[in-house]
Amino acid sequence: MLTVMRLDKFVCKSTELTRSEAIQLINDGVVEVNDEVALHPAIQVHPNNNITLNGQKLTTRDFRYLLMHKPAGTICSNIDEAYPSLFNYLNIDKVTELHIAGRLDADTTGLVLITDDGRWSFNITRPEKQCQKVYRVGLSRPIADDVALMFQHGIKLQGEQQLTLPAQLEVISPKEVLLTLTEGKYHQVKRMFSAVGNRVATLHREKIGKLSLDVKVGQWRYLTPEEVLSFSN
Ligand code: URA
Repeated sequence: MLTVMRLDKFVCKSTELTRSEAIQLINDGVVEVNDEVALHPAIQVHPNNNITLNGQKLTTRDFRYLLMHKPAGTICSNIDEAYPSLFNYLNIDKVTELHIAGRLDADTTGLVLITDDGRWSFNITRPEKQCQKVYRVGLSRPIADDVALMFQHGIKLQGEQQLTLPAQLEVISPKEVLLTLTEGKYHQVKRMFSAVGNRVATLHREKIGKLSLDVKVGQWRYLTPEEVLSFSN
């Protein structure tokens, strides 16, 4: 898939160089874009541009897009901390170039999307893109009747100035609900239920946009081109 990106990122993606090494070479004047020396690492380039390093044409690897079923007790960080990193499950090259589009807490399970395409991630995580994420929530107390309306209107979370964006609540049973959000503030689901006097006992993300979980816990697969495009708006 062809995507516009910063020149320094393009140089990294088409070589084994680190970002700082790429910036240094750009500053040294040895990178050309369409036969002109390019001295600004931040300029936007397109893979169709003719980009050379010391006269050698550069071509990027394709971006990668993965769907994974996150197990409990793993963290959405590139390094192990109190829990092992989710990236330990990926037996593929250059894992450190990947990031998660919409992180989950260590105890949350379910669907995560993983990529090295930062622009694409924005389409998933930025509230204005209105990408819906569906969470199956197990509650420690029965859900009160007025919660769906409160979530629909938006509620004030502790420490936040703005109300939460309209969220849809579907009651499955007194202690099990589906919650659909288009934003992802820190610990948002847990804080929303805490704000209405309840507590999240279990949390599982089962959908992002049109994608549902279709791999077993701890497993992953690449997205199809159609699935990737379904998040490009
Ligand atoms: N909201 C939470 O509170 N935790 C998550 O992991 C995801 C959404």
